[in-house]
Order: sequence, then structure tokens, then C-alpha cells
Amino acid sequence: MEQLKRRIDTIFNSSHLSDEKLQKVCQLLQDEISYYNWVGFYFRNGEKEELILGPYVGAETDHTIIPFGKGICGQVAVSNETFVVPDVSAQDNYLSCSIETKSEIVVPIFKNGENIGQIDIDSHVINPFTKEDEDLLEYVCTRVSEVI
Ligand code: SME
Repeated sequence: MEQLKRRIDTIFNSSHLSDEKLQKVCQLLQDEISYYNWVGFYFRNGEKEELILGPYVGAETDHTIIPFGKGICGQVAVSNETFVVPDVSAQDNYLSCSIETKSEIVVPIFKNGENIGQIDIDSHVINPFTKEDEDLLEYVCTRVSEVI
């Protein structure tokens, strides 16, 4: 994980535009962690209480706009807390992106103390996420808040 963090640093320290950095980080995470099958960012739409899909890798999703409170992502927009879902079939308030998705983790991004977006990972494996994943993704979110 430390080596992966250094590769993430290299992307953030590069001269790419911020959306390109986010796209490259999505690709790196999906390439390096076998159970990360969809990796993407959602950001708050200005003052509106909705999230808009940002850079991502993985299957196309219908959920390009998510109202606050809806699905796992919408709940994190309101709770300001990381949400680990070991088994999506056990969730009532869940927006399905692909029938292959078995689990999900969503980590909020804070800038100046405000919840401005999140990273969302879907996995085809049940219950794969550990504290190490939370730690890695929180690290990514901190780096993201520095470039946007
Ligand atoms: N499953 C998410 C929707 C986004 S897709 O996974 C890409 C949710 O319940 O909010």
C-alpha cells in the first residue's frame, strides 16, 4: 500500500490537469487492486443537493446524477462518513450500477471542512474491504482535495 501511495503522489505531483489526475488515479487503483472493479469520483453540483459523476473507470453507469440521500453515495453526501457495504444485496437504499457488483465503499472528500465529493469503489467480490482500503482511499481523498 505504501508503494501504491507513492505512485499516487507521482500522479498528483504531475503537471496534468486535475481531471486527468483523477482519471489516472482511478486507472491505477483499478489496475493494482484486483477487487476494485469500478472506481470513480462524484462531486457536489455547486450549491445543489446532488452529486455529479466525475472521472471513472469501469462499466458505464446510469447514475450520473445522484440526489443527496439516495443510494450509498447520496447517503455519504449527507453523513460525511465513509460507508463500507460488504454485501450490497443487504442494503435497501442502494443504486445498482451493475448486476456484477457485490460490495462497495464510498469515502468522502473534504475541502476546507466541507464535504465536496467522494470516491466510490464497486467490487465483484463480497466483503473485500479492510481498514487498509479505508486508509488508502482516505489518503487519495486528501490528495484530491489539494488539487481541486
Ligand atoms: N451504487 C452507488 C451508485 C453509483 S454506482 O455504483 C457507480 C450508490 O448506491 O450510491
